[in-house]
Amino acid sequence: MSLATAPAPSFDKGLANTVAAETQMSFIDGGKGVLEYVGIDIDALARNSTFEETVFLLWNRRLPTAQELKSFTEGLRAEYDLPAGMLELIRTMPRDATPMHALRTLVSALALHDSEADAEGEDANARKAIRMLARTPALIAGFDRHRKGKPFVAPDRTLSMAANFLWMLNGAKPTDAVARALDVCLILHADHGLNASTFAGRVTISTLSDLYSAITTAIGTLKGPLHGGANEEVMIMLREIGSLDRVEPYIMERLARKDRIMGFGHRVYKAYDPRATYLKTFARQVAADTGNLALYEMSRRIEEIMAREVAAKGIYPNVDFYSATTYHSIGIDLDLFTCMFAMSRIAGWAGHCIEQLDGNRLIRPAAAYVGPHGQPWVPVSDR
Ligand code: COA
Repeated sequence: MSLATAPAPSFDKGLANTVAAETQMSFIDGGKGVLEYVGIDIDALARNSTFEETVFLLWNRRLPTAQELKSFTEGLRAEYDLPAGMLELIRTMPRDATPMHALRTLVSALALHDSEADAEGEDANARKAIRMLARTPALIAGFDRHRKGKPFVAPDRTLSMAANFLWMLNGAKPTDAVARALDVCLILHADHGLNASTFAGRVTISTLSDLYSAITTAIGTLKGPLHGGANEEVMIMLREIGSLDRVEPYIMERLARKDRIMGFGHRVYKAYDPRATYLKTFARQVAADTGNLALYEMSRRIEEIMAREVAAKGIYPNVDFYSATTYHSIGIDLDLFTCMFAMSRIAGWAGHCIEQLDGNRLIRPAAAYVGPHGQPWVPVSDR
């Protein structure tokens, strides 16, 4: 069909019924509660894989051999260090800045220290993707240490991405269980179809802008409370509730006011979010191991009430609901939760941008004009 004969586009608020891209990375069946990365069920990946292996899977559309995984992991670790100029930039940042503002600014600034920032082609983009993914943990940890008046901790190339982040954040090596808890959260957040931030990143790269600009766009989009910011809102809610006996009146009151309960509901899933299935059990284990069961029990109670009150609408816990208690249990500050999401989703964003560039067409939807027509221009003296 030629463009001239294409039917006029119809208005689709929120683009909920629009297919705007093709991807080979993640498959979602919202009705059945299925999420697969390259055909592998998310539950199997969360139980058995590592974040590094999952990123290889997403970017190469297959699991690596042992040797491929080793060299991919080494390639990532070789890029853990930040350019010196980035550390200087972090030192100039206001200590009370919102971490997501800091992260968006810092990822954007990484381009200033990359001689390949504007280099085109899949190989150059793959190298940039590795650099961004490998350096983001140091940006987040570095900003957190700066705002707390603590010295930076240099990355440790013997550690996984999750363990290295916790090392740089705390200046102490995490236990295997704590590092694994973060690793599982990173796996679960790595990609999720054409979610809002991924779409935003694809729009940017579709203009043939660069990968740093696209990822910066995506981070800004992730920040909103209807998207990545929900995990922070979940923790704020749990703190506001305070104790198990206050859960019922708090939730009922909010539902009566037609307020949203954060960490519930999803545009795509109208069944249980498959990322939350394993996380729910896993979060309990992490909470028990770290002495944070009270928060977990409150979360379970909220879920029971929501199941009783609104499950008929297809409102179930989403990935943010139990990731909030998991992050809290492993000692991550509340206002860093969305940064954790970004640290993982860079894998998905970069993969999508590279897919977009393969057979790219500018993403440019239409708007339905609803304003007046035929208005006169009136000189300013007569208005
Ligand atoms: N708590 C209570 N009710 C909710 C709800 C929530 N978290 N999410 C949706 N609903 C209700 C709506 O009030 C609406 O009810 P109604 O039909 O009686 O008016 C119905 O479910 C459908 O909601 P809708 O806004 O059409 O869904 P959506 O697909 O546009 O929104 C979200 C999806 C994610 C934006 C929405 O569920 C939400 O705001 N959730 C909380 C934020 C969150 O956790 N985001 C992270 C997503 S991973």
